[in-house]
Amino acid sequence: MAVISTVGKIKGYLTALRNVKTLRISRLFRKVHALALSIGLDKIGVLDFLDEPRNLDDVASFIGDVKRLDLLGELMEALANESVLVMQDGRYKVNRAEIDKLHAMRQSNMMFRSLEVLISGFEKILYELMVDVLRGAEFDFVSPEVATLFYIQNTSEVYNLAREVLLELGGGKSRLKGCSILDVGCGFGIEPSIILKFLDFDCRLICADFFTNVVDECMHYTIETDGQTKLLKDLENVEFAVLDPLIRKPFPIPDNYVDAAFCFQVIHWNHYPQELLNEIVRTLKSGGILMLATYMKRKEKVTVTDVLIKMMGGNRFYSEEEMKQFFEKAGLKKHTFFLSNFAVAIKTDANPRTAIIRRTSKTEAT
Ligand SMILES: C[S@@+](CC[C@H](N)C(=O)[O-])C[C@H]1O[C@@H](n2cnc3c(N)ncnc32)[C@H](O)[C@@H]1O
Repeated sequence: MAVISTVGKIKGYLTALRNVKTLRISRLFRKVHALALSIGLDKIGVLDFLDEPRNLDDVASFIGDVKRLDLLGELMEALANESVLVMQDGRYKVNRAEIDKLHAMRQSNMMFRSLEVLISGFEKILYELMVDVLRGAEFDFVSPEVATLFYIQNTSEVYNLAREVLLELGGGKSRLKGCSILDVGCGFGIEPSIILKFLDFDCRLICADFFTNVVDECMHYTIETDGQTKLLKDLENVEFAVLDPLIRKPFPIPDNYVDAAFCFQVIHWNHYPQELLNEIVRTLKSGGILMLATYMKRKEKVTVTDVLIKMMGGNRFYSEEEMKQFFEKAGLKKHTFFLSNFAVAIKTDANPRTAIIRRTSKTEAT
C-alpha cells in the first residue's frame, strides 16, 4: 500500500503533532474538551454547587427543567473520568486542583492555545447552548453559535497541519496529483483550498457538504492562483454538491466516479455513519482511497469529546474497533489507522455493492 512508502515523509508532521510532551494527542484533546465543558458548568454556577457532593438529580434540579437527564449523566460521568469531578457513593464533587491544572495548560500548552476558540466559545456563548440542549433544545452544525465557532476553529494551524498529514497518509502528491477527489464535509472553504494548494491545483475536486449554506460559503471562498484572487466556484477543476445529512438520498455522484475521498472531522457529526461510509465507497472507483480523520476512542465508553459534540448537535465518536467494522461493512478491506485520529482505506471490491440507503434505526452511542 502507498501508505508504507510515505512513512518517512510524514515523520516530520507526526513529530510536530506529537509536540505534546508525554501526553498522547487524543488525551490532550480530551483535556481541552474537559476544560471547555467545565468552563460551561462554571458559568452556570454548577461548579460552585459541586463544592459539596451532589447526586445527578440535585444537579438537574439546580440547572432546572432538564429534559436530557441521560446527557447530563454522561457529562458528569465523562468529567469524572477526566478527574474534573470526583465521584463517591453516587455523588459528584468538583476537583478544583484538576481544574486549576487545566487552566494552567490553557496558558502554556500549544494544543490548548490552538483550540482557544473552542474554549472561549464555551466561556462566552456555548454555555447557554449547553443549558438549552440539556433542557431539550436541538442544535446542529449550522446553528449560528456552532457554525461561527467552527468557521473560526477550522482555520487553526492544528487543523491545517492535520489535513496535510491526512493527505500524506493517503499517498501524498505522488499518488493524489491528477486524481478526482470527493471532499465529503468540505466545510466553509479552507479545506478545499488546502487540498488544491497541496496538489498544486492538479486534481479535480468535488466539494460536498450537508448544508446548502455551508456549500454556498465554500463556493465563495477566495484562493490565490496564478497571481490572481479567485472564488473557488470559478475554478474549472472544482465542483460542488449538497448531500443529505440523513443519508436517505444517495449522494448526487455516480458509482465508481472518484479516485479518492477525503473526509476530515465529519463522521462523528453524522447520525448514520455506516450509511455515510457506504455512500462514500459507492462513489469511489475500485482501488480508490478513503482518507478519513476523526478521533478514535480506545474504549467504547462515553468521553468528554462525545459529550462536547452532542452538545453541538453532533452524534458521537467511535472506537477503532467500531471504525474497522464500519469500513469492513462498507467494502473497505485494506485499512490502516494512525495516531488514533487518522484512517486510510482502499476500496478493493471490483463490483461494488449498491450503497445501503435503507436503515432501520440510528447508529447511535447508546
Ligand atoms: C468541523 S467541520 C469540518 C469541515 C471540514 N472538513 C473542515 O475541516 O474544514 C464538520 C463538518 O461536518 C458537517 N456536518 C455537521 N453535521 C453533520 C451531519 N449531521 N451530517 C453530516 N455532516 C455534518 C459540517 O457540515 C461540516 O462540514
